[in-house]
Amino acid sequence: EKGGWSSFMRKEVSEQPDAVANTIRGRIVDGEVHIPELESFGDDELRGIRRITVVACGTAAYAGQVAKYAIEQWARVPVEIELSHEFRYREPVIDDGTLVISISQSGETMDTLMAVKYAREQGARTISICNTQGATIPRESDAVVYTHAGPEVAVASTKAFVAQITALYLFGLHLARVRGTLPHGALVDALAELQAIPAKIEEVLGESERVAQLAHWMADTRSVLFLGRHVGFPIALEGALKLKELAYIHAEGFAAGELKHGPIALIEPGQPVFVVVPSPRGSANLHPKVVSNIQEIRARGARVIAIAEAGDAAVLPFADEVIRIPLAAPLFEPLLAVVPLQIFAMELSQAKGLDVDQPRNLAKSVTVE
Ligand code: F6R
Repeated sequence: EKGGWSSFMRKEVSEQPDAVANTIRGRIVDGEVHIPELESFGDDELRGIRRITVVACGTAAYAGQVAKYAIEQWARVPVEIELSHEFRYREPVIDDGTLVISISQSGETMDTLMAVKYAREQGARTISICNTQGATIPRESDAVVYTHAGPEVAVASTKAFVAQITALYLFGLHLARVRGTLPHGALVDALAELQAIPAKIEEVLGESERVAQLAHWMADTRSVLFLGRHVGFPIALEGALKLKELAYIHAEGFAAGELKHGPIALIEPGQPVFVVVPSPRGSANLHPKVVSNIQEIRARGARVIAIAEAGDAAVLPFADEVIRIPLAAPLFEPLLAVVPLQIFAMELSQAKGLDVDQPRNLAKSVTVE
């Protein structure tokens, strides 16, 4: 079943271009987003949404956190991400203007299922983003937008994550079109960016050998920090989660802007820090701020591994290692930047002789609380 790959994870990481392409397939028609599964949601209903609450756990929640930036920018609807288990044990404010979107690869995560049931009881409409046909969560939801990543066997989620972001982006663009919040040209550009992602992920996969080398050099590392900003922030969190679960190394992700509010105290000579660097072409001008964060931690002895777009020369004087990703519009960079972090965790796990597909203490789907 592994088809010649040494692990399911390695196979699934390599399948990410297809996971994105297959999730897009059939959903862009004549340059327009088209999601037939959402037909039960009339345009009037989509225009009436005042708030979106995303419920999910783990990596799926990070996909939601990435999509928040895109959906808010495109469709001008506030989006909040809730861990399913935190959501359902209080009295969350839900009304008929609230759309609840659940994200689950397996479609069986008990906490997410219960969050969806609770939301429906409170009168919310629900959409499931799910990778498993006919699973329980989609059956309990008003509509389902399937991700077509194919079966994910390795416990650590990889291709489902990029497929989840893809599905949520398509949804966000659909919502923006219906609500008239995005000029036609911007919609067309965003769809073209999305369609260009599979080939760009393929390019990032071409860097695998370098990332593997880095992981092998770092096999004795005891702690790794990850910094990111804007859409790079949830990617930093995801990079840290992957490293914890696969290589059993203490890892933490931070919003780069938080450094001075505490985390910079952790920096001592030799501390490895991955930094997801935003594009210098981004309109919010975050790039110089993150470059200056890199300078600050470097001055305190951090060993900086920058994930930066091709041609970004500003990071070169300060980073010990630079892993390049191809140019993409800023909102689409997470789909590229996450890949080296997945590979790093996988290779480090392997360098330590661990079971990449089946890390200790973890199950692929968490059907108990
Ligand atoms: C991490 C990972 C988990 C899952 C989480 C949700 O690599 O796989 O954090 O993302 O357990 O699972 P699903 O998406 O099946 O609800």
